[in-house]
Amino acid sequence: MTVPVITIDGPSASGKGSVASVVAARLGFHYLDSGSLYRLVALAALRRGIPLDDAEALAPLALSLPVVFGKDSVLLEGDEVADALRAEEIGNGASKVGALPAVRAALLERQRAFAVQPGLVTDGRDMGSVVFPQATVKVFLTADAAVRAERRYKQLIGKGESANLPRITQDIIERDARDAAREVAPLRHEPDAMLLDTSAMTIDEAVEHVVQWYSDRLSSG
Ligand code: C5P
Repeated sequence: MTVPVITIDGPSASGKGSVASVVAARLGFHYLDSGSLYRLVALAALRRGIPLDDAEALAPLALSLPVVFGKDSVLLEGDEVADALRAEEIGNGASKVGALPAVRAALLERQRAFAVQPGLVTDGRDMGSVVFPQATVKVFLTADAAVRAERRYKQLIGKGESANLPRITQDIIERDARDAAREVAPLRHEPDAMLLDTSAMTIDEAVEHVVQWYSDRLSSG
C-alpha cells in the first residue's frame, strides 16, 4: 500500500512548519521538518570548524549525521540542540549548505525514510518537487515578506529574545532570494502544488484548507 504524503513547501517564516505539524497531528501522520536536517548540517559544520561552502567535507557529514529526533527534542551527538537549531545564524547557514548539490543528495534518502504508514506530512522547499514527487497533496504555502518578518519578530519577542524588525525583514528577503536562485531544487511554486497565501489567514484556517484538499483527494480516488 502506498504511504500518503502531504508536502508543504514555501519560503522562510511562512508558517508552513506550524501548519504542517498541526495537519500531521489532526490526521495522526508522522511529521518531518526537512529544514531541521539542513540546519543540523550547518550547526554540526560550525561546531567542527568546517566552512559552509566545503561540499567535500559537508556531504559525508550530512550522510552520517548522528541525530536522534524526539517529540520536542533533537539530539546531535547526544547533545540537545532543539533551541540552537532555531537561531537565525543557523537558518542562514542552512540556506548556504542547502545550495550545495552534494549535501542535498546526501540528505535525500534520509528524508524519504520518513514516509511510513499511516502517512507523512513534511515541510521544506523541495518536498513536492524533488523528495516526494508522487505526494498525495502538494501545497505551496506563502505570505507577504512583511507579514512573515512580523510573525518571526513576534515569535522571538515572545521567547524573550531580542529582535530587530528591519534586520529580520532583510534576512528573510536575502534568504528567499538565495533559496529561489540556486541551481538545485530552487524555492518555486510548482504548477502541481496548491497555492495557499496565509498573509491574512490564521494557522487554523490554513490547516482547514490542507485537510480539506487531502480529503477531496481521497474521495476523488
Ligand atoms: O525551513 P527552514 O527555515 O528551517 O530552512 C532553513 C534553510 O534550509 C532554508 O532557508 C533552505 O535554504 C534550506 N532548506 C532547503 N530544503 C528544504 C528545507 C530547507 O534547502 N527542503
